[in-house]
Amino acid sequence: MSTQALTLALHGDVAVITFDLPNEPVNKFSASVIAEFDAILTTIEQNRAVKAAVLISGKPEVFIAGADIDAFLEFRSAQDATDASAFGHRMMQRLEKSRAPVVAAIHGGCLGGGLEAALACAYRIATEHPKTVMALPEVQLGLIPGAGGTQRLPRTVGLQAALDMILTGKNVRAKKALQIGLVDELVHPNMLREIAIQRARELGAGTLRHQEKKHGAKEMVLEDNPIGRAVVFRQAREMTLKKSRGHYPALLAALDAVSAGYHGSPEQGFAEEARLFGVMAASPVSKELIFLFYATTALKKDFGVVGTAPAPQPVKRIGVLGTGFMGAGIAAISAMQGIPVRFKDTTLEQVARGIAAVRDVLKDRLTKRQITRQQFDDQLSLVSGTVNYTGFRQLPMVVEAVFEEIGVKHKVLAELEPLLADHAIFATNTSTIPITRIAEGAKRPERVIGMHFFSPVHKMPLLEVIVTPKTSPEVITTTVAFGRKLGKTVIVVNDAPGFFANRILAPYINEAGRLLDEGVAIDTIDTAMLDFGFPVGPITLLDEVGIDIAGKSGAVMSAAFGDRLQPSQSLGKVLGAGRLGRKGKKGFYVYDENGKKAGVDESVYALLPTGSRRTTIAKDVIQQRCVLAMVNEAARCVEEGIVRQPRDGDVGAVFGIGFPPFRGGPYRYIDTVGVVQIVQQLERLNTQHPGRFTPCALLVNMAQEGRRFYSATGKPV
Ligand code: NAI
Repeated sequence: MSTQALTLALHGDVAVITFDLPNEPVNKFSASVIAEFDAILTTIEQNRAVKAAVLISGKPEVFIAGADIDAFLEFRSAQDATDASAFGHRMMQRLEKSRAPVVAAIHGGCLGGGLEAALACAYRIATEHPKTVMALPEVQLGLIPGAGGTQRLPRTVGLQAALDMILTGKNVRAKKALQIGLVDELVHPNMLREIAIQRARELGAGTLRHQEKKHGAKEMVLEDNPIGRAVVFRQAREMTLKKSRGHYPALLAALDAVSAGYHGSPEQGFAEEARLFGVMAASPVSKELIFLFYATTALKKDFGVVGTAPAPQPVKRIGVLGTGFMGAGIAAISAMQGIPVRFKDTTLEQVARGIAAVRDVLKDRLTKRQITRQQFDDQLSLVSGTVNYTGFRQLPMVVEAVFEEIGVKHKVLAELEPLLADHAIFATNTSTIPITRIAEGAKRPERVIGMHFFSPVHKMPLLEVIVTPKTSPEVITTTVAFGRKLGKTVIVVNDAPGFFANRILAPYINEAGRLLDEGVAIDTIDTAMLDFGFPVGPITLLDEVGIDIAGKSGAVMSAAFGDRLQPSQSLGKVLGAGRLGRKGKKGFYVYDENGKKAGVDESVYALLPTGSRRTTIAKDVIQQRCVLAMVNEAARCVEEGIVRQPRDGDVGAVFGIGFPPFRGGPYRYIDTVGVVQIVQQLERLNTQHPGRFTPCALLVNMAQEGRRFYSATGKPV
C-alpha cells in the first residue's frame, strides 16, 4: 500500500494532484503531507510541459477535512504553533503563486486548512451535493484559521461574509458558496474531474479569467472604504463580546487577524495571523475545546459495553408512546432520518396534537431551507398514530414518553410486553425514575433500557442511555447505534435516580434556589452564572424547564439522596402559588404575549422567604456555591460508577446541561482548579452550610494522593 498521500498524473498539459491519505477516512494536512505538496509543486514547476493543475480528493465524501489535530498536541509553546502556521503559509503561497495555475475540485467537506488551500488556488469548482460544505471551523476549537484563511477569505468573499464564516465556523453549502463568490462554479459530482481539467487547461492558456466577486450594493458602501470597514469591525467586536462574555478569546483574535490584513501589508496580515494562531493554540480555552473534540470523537466508537460489543441490530421503525412534548420531539428527529414512527396516546386529540407538533418542527426546517418541500412531505408522512397499539406488533423498538409517573410507566409496559416480539426493545425517556424500578414489572427486563433525551429534542445534542445490571449488551449497542443514527452524542450511564445529567443539575439548581431563599436577587444569580459561562442562568432554566417539572424532579432526588439534595424553599413556594414558568407565562420572570422573557417578575419576591428584603452576596461566592455543589456531585457519580469514566461525564455536562464548553466539563474544571483547592473550598463552604458541601470521598482521596481525573500531558482522552 502506498504511504504517499498525494499522487500526480498528467492529462496532456494538465497535472492532476490527487489527495488520498492512506489508512484514513478523511484527508488531513500534517507536516509530512505539506512536505509532499512541496515536492509535487516543485515537480510541476520544473516540468515546462505542464501548464496548469487540478487539486482533487481521492476520498468519496471529503475534499480536505483540515489540519491533523493530533499535531496540535505536539506544540510546546505559542512559538511552536506560530512556526507551524508560517510553514503552512509558505505552502499556500506556493500554491497561489504556482506558475501553473491550480484549480480546486471540491466534493465533500472542505474545511479549515482544506478551505484555506482551496482559497490559495486560482479557481474553485464545487459539486452541487449535500455533502459538499465549506467552513473555517477553527474558532470552535478555540483557534483561528492559521493557513491564510483570515487573509484570503475576506479578499475572496468580502469582509462581512468572511467574518460571518470565521466567527461562527458554520458550514456553507455549495449554492451559498457560489452566491458569495467562495467558489467560481458548481457542477454535478460526475463531471467534477473532467470540468476541473478543462478549466485548468483554459486557465493555463489564458482563456479563462478568474471572475471578480459581485458585492451587494450595501456591502460595497460599507466595506470598500476604511470608515465603513471600521464600522463593520466595531460592530462585529461589540456583538462578539456580548455573545461570548469574553470567554472565547479566539473570536477577538480572529477579528484582529482579519483587521491586520486590511490595515497593513499582506505580509503583516499573514504574520499577525501566525502570531495569533500561536497565542490561541497555547490558550487554556483551546486546550479544553480540543479535549471535547477528542472526547466526542472517541465516544462515537464506544458502544458502552464491557468487552466485545455485540453487533447493533437495525432499527428501521419505532413506536413512540405518549405524543406530548418529548414524544413529538423524538418522533420528529426519527422522521428526519427516514424512520417511520407509530405514535400512541390515550385520545385521538392527543395523537393529532403530537403529529401537529412534529409538523411544526419539520416546517421550521423547511422555512430555513434545511429540507425541500418534497422532503418535508416525505418525512411528515412517516408519522402515523393510534390509540390502541395497532401497528406495534412488529416494531423492533418502542420509546416511551408518557407522564412521569411510575404507575403510568408500569401500565404501558404491561400492556405492551405481550404484544411485542421477544427481541423488541422498550426504551423509556423518563427523566428521573430509575430504570430498574420501571423494569421491575417487566417479563423481559433485559430488553428495558433508558433513553433520556433532552428538551427540545431536535436541538439538544445529548442522549443519555441508561442501563441496568439486567440490560442485555445487544440492547445497549442497538440503542446506542440508534441514538447516533438520530444524530445524538450518546453517553452510556448506569442506573440511579437522576442518572448523570439531572443528578448533577439538582444540587446546582438547589443552590441557586437557596441563594433566593437567602434574599439574593433573581437576576443577580442568573447573571453570575452567565458570567461563569453557562448559556442560561439557573433561575431562567427553572422557568424554561417548567417549575412543576423541576419540582417533581427535586422531590425524586431528595427522596433518593436525602438532605443533601433537598430542593429550596423558594421553588416550593413559587410552585405552590401555581406558577409554572414560561409555558404558563408566569414564573420568576415576566413573559409577553409571544412568550418572550420581559424581565424579572418583581411580584414573585412576595412569595419568597425573605419577601422584598434583599441580600447582597459577591458574584464569585454565588458562582462557587453553585458550581462546587455540581462538581462535587459529579465526582460522586464517578465514585459510584454512574458514569463509566470522566470523559463521558464531561461530554454529558457540556452537551446536556450547558456546562461551559471552554471549561471542558466538571472533571476538567476540577483538574484545572486543582483537586486540593476544590476540597479546601468545599470544606470551607461546608462549615458555613453544613451537610451540603461535604467533599466526596473520591475527591478527598485524590487530594491526598495527588491524583487528577486526566493525565496532565498527552492525548486528552
Ligand atoms: P407531556 O405531558 O407533554 O406528554 C405526556 C404524554 O403522555 C401526553 O400526551 C399524555 O396524553 C400521554 N399519556 C399519558 N398516559 C398515557 C398512556 N397510558 N398511553 C399513552 N400515552 C399516554 O410530558 P413530556 O414533557 O413529554 O414528558 C414525557 C416523559 O419525558 C416524562 O417521563 C418526562 O419525565 C420525560 N422527559 C421530559 C423532559 C422535558 O423537558 N419535558 C425532558 C426529558 C425527559
